[in-house]
Amino acid sequence: MIAANREDELEAADVSPTPDPDPTESGTRSDTRSTDGVVVRGAVGDDLAGVLSVGHRTWLATYEPIAGPEYVAMGLAKWWTSDVVTDSIRKGRTLVAVEGDEVVGVATFGPRDESCVLWKLYVLPDHHGHGIGSRLLKAVVEQARENEHPRITLSYLEGNHQAARFYARHGFVETHREAPGSGLPESVWMVRELEAGEPA
Ligand SMILES: CC(C)(COP(=O)(O)OP(=O)(O)OC[C@H]1O[C@@H](n2cnc3c(N)ncnc32)[C@H](O)[C@@H]1OP(=O)(O)O)[C@@H](O)C(=O)NCCC(=O)NCCS
Repeated sequence: MIAANREDELEAADVSPTPDPDPTESGTRSDTRSTDGVVVRGAVGDDLAGVLSVGHRTWLATYEPIAGPEYVAMGLAKWWTSDVVTDSIRKGRTLVAVEGDEVVGVATFGPRDESCVLWKLYVLPDHHGHGIGSRLLKAVVEQARENEHPRITLSYLEGNHQAARFYARHGFVETHREAPGSGLPESVWMVRELEAGEPA
């Protein structure tokens, strides 16, 4: 997700005097279990390698065809380092989908103004189409509601048709586009308003 381009800046700038929730606690709170054996929960320190692995495997498959290998290399070096991921886990802003002891999906989020921004949503390619992305998104919506955000925003890279269809199906609508230049595809920004009482 191109939206991840500001995640590190945003998280570095967040100096809230109230400590973020212990990731172990947020994991317990947002646990959802289904019959397929995949658990969605808050990430903990031991998930670091698994989260990084999901990032590296999904970025290549997703972005090389639409943005090229240099973009993939840049994104991995900038947004999928141990430091960036550890910081997000510590702040309670990373959710994982785990099958057995393997991390198969990752979502990260954080505040910007009033909104909750979904910075990353990645599911391993061979696990697509089984509802894991939907469950991660649902857990992010729950977190956003708990934190009293009125809306969730996100962006995807133009040409990522899978993401465009997925987000539209989950109630997101386009708000605007950003052109990064250098021949890279535009970032398409979307929003979903969270009305009280609306199902996740
Ligand atoms: C976008 C993404 C996160 C969705 O994850 P996912 O786990 O495949 O999502 P789901 O399985 O919940 O939904 C995908 C499709 O499977 C279908 N589906 C969901 N549960 C299903 C089930 N149990 N059985 C069959 N089909 C199912 C859904 O209808 C959905 O269809 P749609 O894409 O037309 O909306 C995933 O495709 C991905 O990681 N893509 C690459 C990275 C990426 O682009 N991330 C977003 C960056 S902005």
